[in-house]
Amino acid sequence: MPKQSISLRIAINLFLGLTLSAAAISSTWSKEPFVAGTQPDRRPQYAPVQTAPLPEQARNKEFFTGVTKPVPESLKALQRDQRGWYTPFSRPGMTSYYDIRGWHSKNPDAADTAGKYLRDTYSEWHTRDKMLSARNEDCLQCHQEIMIEKPRAQSPGGVKASDALAWYQSTLSVYEGKQETFHYRHLQSPLAKRLMNLQCNFCHLGHDPRDENLSSHANAVGLESKDFTLRKTVNPETTCLRCHGQFAAELMGLPGPWYEMAAAMGNNCMICHETIRTTRHNVTYLNKDAIEKEGRENADTCYGCHGGRAWYRISYPYPRNPWEGMPEEIPEWAKDRPTQSQARFLPSAVSAQAKPTAASNQKAGGQKQ
Ligand code: HEC
Ligand code: HEC
Ligand code: HEC
Ligand code: HEC
Ligand code: HEC
Repeated sequence: MPKQSISLRIAINLFLGLTLSAAAISSTWSKEPFVAGTQPDRRPQYAPVQTAPLPEQARNKEFFTGVTKPVPESLKALQRDQRGWYTPFSRPGMTSYYDIRGWHSKNPDAADTAGKYLRDTYSEWHTRDKMLSARNEDCLQCHQEIMIEKPRAQSPGGVKASDALAWYQSTLSVYEGKQETFHYRHLQSPLAKRLMNLQCNFCHLGHDPRDENLSSHANAVGLESKDFTLRKTVNPETTCLRCHGQFAAELMGLPGPWYEMAAAMGNNCMICHETIRTTRHNVTYLNKDAIEKEGRENADTCYGCHGGRAWYRISYPYPRNPWEGMPEEIPEWAKDRPTQSQARFLPSAVSAQAKPTAASNQKAGGQKQ
């Protein structure tokens, strides 16, 4: 067959296809016409005409369906300005999972409502202010999973968890137990419960479920924020690094890393720290007395948080709280260090209101012991 006629056939087929599908579309259109039609210079005959405004009550009901009470002022203003104009905001949207406002359900607040999961994703507990005031129980009413989940006994590739030890699991004498999850190791392990008092909001400072990007939309926190980093809900620099940085041998005047120096120092940090930087760990997220006691018995307790479980190549720039007998002269490296621990963790910052308590953490940590 000559080449030309093939392309002619294709053209005819294409033409037929196009006209057919156009016909299909126009028949749908005639059933559900666009409100304002397709000709910009005239309103179609079938377009609805508003003769009187809807009663206030009816409008409110539509507009505020599924909106958490008290209705925000900004939304009320929007509703006032909307008047009789069309808005998708007052019409039922998608169903099931996407039905955030419970349009398609008789009781939008019911726990089993399809849209509840998505609504909870946008729960106000995830906003910064609310999260900062949260106790562990507040988060755990929805997030029990983090206390219950266990790592796989075996990876899909067949590696047994018990065979996959990280370096500190065999080098630190204070490491115990089988492989556990991250949250377990910080909230529930015996060591964690003795030495620390971490609250959810020590690490979690709020996140934006829309997009974990610092500056992608008008309400984003902005690039200068230190609350979280791209695609992460927790900022490692301000949290993890405190207990997983390198041992700062150089500024301690030690000629080598701790694992080389330990023996010469009698395997004891106290040889120096009995008198140096003695004002330490006065923060609500650590159990100071237990740390001092156990650190005296075993330097691995101290080293564990100051180099022994290092995930980073740098150390945390600790605040330098003045201590008794502190030399007048400030060393060069310490000139820009804060001289007090972060205000929100000072014991004096904990007031009677809904602030984390040792008891609340104990409870959280105790859930799955
Ligand atoms: C009303 C239930 C509810 C409460 C209360 C709640 N959350 Fe959530 N949270 C959710 C849901 C639902 C998601 C979405 C889970 C998902 O995407 O799989 C979520 C997601 C998260 C995520 C993951 C975010 C991400 O994008 O990866 C974190 C972190 C989180 N919540 C922390 C907290 C903390 C901390 C608190 C306490 C201040 C808290 N939540 C309180 C329901 C809740
Ligand atoms: C020591 C810091 C730390 C503490 C304390 C902590 N978290 Fe997390 N959490 C993390 C990190 C880091 C992630 C992973 C974040 C990411 O991927 O961006 C995470 C992830 C999560 C997620 C997402 C689901 C998952 O398992 O990855 C939820 C939900 C969550 N945390 C809830 C909580 C709650 C509730 C508490 C308090 C009971 C809590 N966390 C305490 C650091 C912490
Ligand atoms: C206040 C101190 C502290 C902070 C902050 C902290 N950790 Fe830890 N981390 C510990 C201690 C203590 C352990 C050992 C717990 C144990 O052995 O039971 C540990 C253990 C771990 C482990 C080992 C888990 C295992 O089973 O071997 C990982 C991974 C880890 N931390 C990562 C992180 C990350 C990531 C962050 C920041 C989101 C973080 N840590 C913040 C003190 C801390
Ligand atoms: C030879 C004495 C000596 C020994 C041993 C020693 N340190 Fe230090 N350490 C110092 C000195 C000196 C400083 C800095 C004092 C200052 O701020 O002027 C210091 C500072 C620190 C700091 C604060 C670092 C910072 O960036 O602000 C930590 C944390 C610390 N030591 C932990 C330990 C731990 C844990 C051990 C044991 C594993 C240990 N040190 C053993 C002398 C020592
Ligand atoms: C559970 C983890 C953990 C353990 C165990 C631990 N530290 Fe710390 N250490 C920290 C953290 C976190 C800070 C910063 C506290 C703050 O917010 O001011 C700190 C701060 C310090 C500082 C700086 C104090 C200042 O404010 O100038 C010194 C020195 C120090 N630790 C020494 C030690 C010694 C010695 C031991 C053992 C007796 C020890 N640490 C055990 C986590 C730990």
